[in-house]
Amino acid sequence: MSPTSPDTTSPDTEPREDGPTFPPSPEFVADAVANAGLHDAAAADREAFWADQARSLLDWRTPFTQTLDWSDAPFARWFADGELNVAENCLDRHVRAGNGERVAIHFEGARGDTRRITYAELTADVQRAANMLTDLGVGPGDRVVVYLPLIPEAVVTMLAVARIGAVHSVVFGGFSAESLRARIEDAGAKLVVTADGGWRRGTVSPLKPAVDEALTGEGTDTVEHVLVVRRGENDVEWNDDRDRWWHDEFTKAAPEHEAQAFPAETPLFILYTSGTTGKPKGIVHTSGGYLTQAAYTHRNVFDMHPEKDVYWCTADIGWITGHSYVVYGPLANGVTQVLYEGTPDEPQPGRWWDIVDSYGVTVLYTAPTAVRAAMKAGRQIPEARSLETLRLLGSVGEPINPEAWQWYRQVIGHDRTPIVDTWWQTETGAIMISALPGVTKLKPGAAQTPLPGITAEIVDDDGRRVDPGEGGYLTIADPWPSMARGIWNDPDRFVETYWSRFPGRYFAGDGARLDGQGDIWVQGRVDDVMNVSGHRLSTAEIESALVGHEGVAEAAVVGAADETTGQAVVAFVILTAEAAEGVDREATAKELRDWVGKRIGAIAKPRQVVIVPELPKTRSGKIMRRLLRDAAEGRRIGDTTTLADPTIMATIADLM
Ligand code: WTA
Repeated sequence: MSPTSPDTTSPDTEPREDGPTFPPSPEFVADAVANAGLHDAAAADREAFWADQARSLLDWRTPFTQTLDWSDAPFARWFADGELNVAENCLDRHVRAGNGERVAIHFEGARGDTRRITYAELTADVQRAANMLTDLGVGPGDRVVVYLPLIPEAVVTMLAVARIGAVHSVVFGGFSAESLRARIEDAGAKLVVTADGGWRRGTVSPLKPAVDEALTGEGTDTVEHVLVVRRGENDVEWNDDRDRWWHDEFTKAAPEHEAQAFPAETPLFILYTSGTTGKPKGIVHTSGGYLTQAAYTHRNVFDMHPEKDVYWCTADIGWITGHSYVVYGPLANGVTQVLYEGTPDEPQPGRWWDIVDSYGVTVLYTAPTAVRAAMKAGRQIPEARSLETLRLLGSVGEPINPEAWQWYRQVIGHDRTPIVDTWWQTETGAIMISALPGVTKLKPGAAQTPLPGITAEIVDDDGRRVDPGEGGYLTIADPWPSMARGIWNDPDRFVETYWSRFPGRYFAGDGARLDGQGDIWVQGRVDDVMNVSGHRLSTAEIESALVGHEGVAEAAVVGAADETTGQAVVAFVILTAEAAEGVDREATAKELRDWVGKRIGAIAKPRQVVIVPELPKTRSGKIMRRLLRDAAEGRRIGDTTTLADPTIMATIADLM
């Protein structure tokens, strides 16, 4: 799919060139010197710089001698002859260093239940869980699908899988049975770890039934066992041959587990993400390079001081942010963090801010959509809390509009915290572009500068670097340690999707602009990927779910600007002749929304389904989504002269 012009797809980020800048706070003076040093070191010798990071941030059982092997580009190998154990780096070594009593996780359940888990306890849990997985027949290289709520067992499972050299594939709990099935099949999973259900807004949302349903589907006979955490205490069906309770197996397993070292390029996880086709891509990350950059970025972008910070990233482990900045980055750095199962406002508005106050959170990392939802709820809610421990705020998931940035800083940050706006992707594995605290002067709404060691460049249609003041496509010119190593089962798609648009460059799928001062403003996707509440959704995937419904003849989906979620899914459908007869539009729209929810997951449900007699097509039959986006956003409809039927847009606009 060829990208459209970047200028057509930036909903609400008209860059402001000279936003207010803020001096570094005194907290950061020492770190500023260190961070400036990083820039110099990376500029002097990029590979040596990364090798230094890998050596200083991680413990290697076998030191590597080769930093980067790019001979099989774009399939990189970093630190390939080195050996390490990822879980040991996140756990045992902190205990050995005398920090076993430090809290690793302050867990807060949605209903207010809490658990305080030290590094020594987490290490013990993961050791036992590693034995449990081994007892269930999981070995190095086997795939384990994780379909869990945001509870400590999710973190324990991921680390236990890593510890034994197996590969996890976490599927967000909001995905449907069908999405889960497709991911189990693609990965050829041997084990599925789930829960009876999780807590959400005072009720249990069941998970196990979706696993049961997924496993009745095709291509799932690789699964030998389903391991079930008891959490929701809802009734579940039980298959004695296949299903095992976590608490039974965990108790039976031996407590001690000696971590084995694995080569740095051992696959660590697969994470599926939406692309421009109907089929999600299984992005593959490996061990040494991924952990190096997760730890490096977490340490430097968030200015972490593990001995005193209390860090909280609000992402779910079902997304890459939860992988890199809930599990691997913070734990590799030995940081204390909060893990919260629920939503920002349950059971009372301001629950998030109560959590900040009760644990003394110092660094908060969240998404613009959450900031905008808090803005909408009203500043009196956070203003009734202290929030005085916060000293740094982070943003990720989509471009943060300057209004939300300012509100975040003023109301949550009390005008004293820097905000780091971090750009990265599932494929990049870790943060690539961000301000560095103490070094960069902050600019509301701009992701700003590539981190030391990262060569992010904006290029024009011909792959030439643009000058300050110009826009183009965001690309990465040199390999980086946490880059994806491929797409599971589909190396060709990896090359074609990311490396063929601009030879020798990774093309991120985002449009971006360089301002007069050389800062980067990311403007959002230029392909058919939507960004709803910071979650990637594919127009093609939702369209193919819609046409899978017997009443639908054709469908076109667009992402329309939305005040809270950034973008929202709007679907235009043509019904079959039978379905169209005497149709109840409202009931059919609801049925189709639910249908998408069932096929993909609740997050993909269109905000609006518009039943139309025809779609805006060119004479060659190409659907002009740009015009549909105009209609969905209530704008004046653009140029319709190339349409086969120039009157159709007026009809559609009337139906909105
Ligand atoms: C968008 C999330 C602007 C972008 C970590 C990217 C952003 C996609 C930012 C990746 C940001 C993420 N500013 N846009 N700070 N962060 N994005 O794979 O469009 O879920 O391509 O990874 O989110 O989404 P993904």
